[in-house]
Amino acid sequence: MLYSPNKFKEADMKKTDATNSSIGLSRRSFLISSSAGVAWLAMGGHSGTAQAATPFVLPPLPYAENALEPVISARTISFHYGKHHKGYVDNLNKLIAGTEYADLPLEKIIMVTAGQTEKALIFNNAAQVWNHTFYWKSMMPKGGGEPPNALKRKMEASFGSVEACKKELLSAAVSQFGSGWAWLVLDGDKLKAVKTSNADVPLTTGIKPVLTVDVWEHAYYLDCQNRRVDYVNAVLDKLVNWEFALQNAT
Ligand code: FE2
Repeated sequence: MLYSPNKFKEADMKKTDATNSSIGLSRRSFLISSSAGVAWLAMGGHSGTAQAATPFVLPPLPYAENALEPVISARTISFHYGKHHKGYVDNLNKLIAGTEYADLPLEKIIMVTAGQTEKALIFNNAAQVWNHTFYWKSMMPKGGGEPPNALKRKMEASFGSVEACKKELLSAAVSQFGSGWAWLVLDGDKLKAVKTSNADVPLTTGIKPVLTVDVWEHAYYLDCQNRRVDYVNAVLDKLVNWEFALQNAT
């Protein structure tokens, strides 16, 4: 299953928004019949005319649920995408309905609630919507392999080699205590491997995400049980979408 039309009616997601978002999450402001029309909507665009706040919608998976097998099973994706990711979208919509956040783009919600204890529920759900959308795009069927030359040069300049970059990503992923995320990020001109806990996302510290690996147990436990290292290694070797990373690293 790619996605249900009932979950997402606005055609596709595109990198369109003025904030140069990598995920392009839109709200259900109106239906769009062509992909070209989605530009306005990206990241919760608003028409400037009075209209009711519209909920966020679950972005489509960029591939079929079984497309990442055998590394990540369709069963894992069905729960991870269909239950966890969808749950964050649904929770966020409930939490922001009728509030000052109801009309804000997703990234704005994340930025203005970050670090505020009393807004933690909104932040956590908003950030998890963003993180998961970014995660699905960080992988592709038959991914991995050699990065594009432009990315390879950046990796070599920052880490010494592609293998060293992957090793640092693996280290960040494996050393994250409990739930969280491993990220390849762009900090100034330099690529770095970092980790965040729970829903935290590098965006809030002004660092640009390039690629991510979800290391919450729900991402790998059905397939790898406690072997997080096997899951991360397989993602980096066989699924990682280097072209997506390159788009974010420039
Ligand atoms: Fe997850």
